[in-house]
Amino acid sequence: MSQLGDLLLKRFSCRAYTSDPVARADVEKILEAARLAPSACNRQPWRFAVVTEVAQRTRLLDEGTLPGLGMTWALQAPVILVLGMKKSLITHRVAPLLSKVEYPLLDLGIAGEQAVLQATELGLGTCWIGWIRPKEVRRLVGWPSDITPQALITLGWPAARPQRSSPRLSLNEIVTWC
Ligand SMILES: Cc1cc2nc3c(=O)[nH]c(=O)nc-3n(C[C@H](O)[C@H](O)[C@H](O)COP(=O)(O)O)c2cc1C
Repeated sequence: MSQLGDLLLKRFSCRAYTSDPVARADVEKILEAARLAPSACNRQPWRFAVVTEVAQRTRLLDEGTLPGLGMTWALQAPVILVLGMKKSLITHRVAPLLSKVEYPLLDLGIAGEQAVLQATELGLGTCWIGWIRPKEVRRLVGWPSDITPQALITLGWPAARPQRSSPRLSLNEIVTWC
């Protein structure tokens, strides 16, 4: 198996973390992986906030996420990355009117997953959280109104692997060969 193949198999949504801190150098390496991502017209619409202080993380999860998914586990993670989107006029507002493609969302997904894979390589656990209240998250991290939070990613040392891996559709179900 290639190194990338190993990483892809190793990554999972981690919902249990130890209390060990994550070194700033590791967080910077993870952010660097995101920074190198490709983006439509190289607009790089991603912005990141790194939330580490426990009172801030508690507020982010209490006020910045939606109820119903039971995400109290997320407080165990010593770092929460906030992924924000800063839209540009041409690529993000005019071009999608013609193509109907949401370029900045694609870009953010790529950057976020590059961060996740770098974290996985370092042995860290991650979990995307999309069940958020963007306006509340923006207020809590102090971003201006032109940056819209789209997701959180928890980051920390895994306390456990899931008992079962999440099933995937088969290639037959998702691929059209033309
Ligand atoms: C964009 C996105 C949003 C997600 N939002 C949440 C979330 O709000 N809460 C949560 O517990 N997991 C969330 N997840 C994790 C998914 O549930 C998980 O990736 C999926 O079930 C597959 O499992 P795996 O990541 O362990 O392979 C999200 C994943 C993605 C990519």
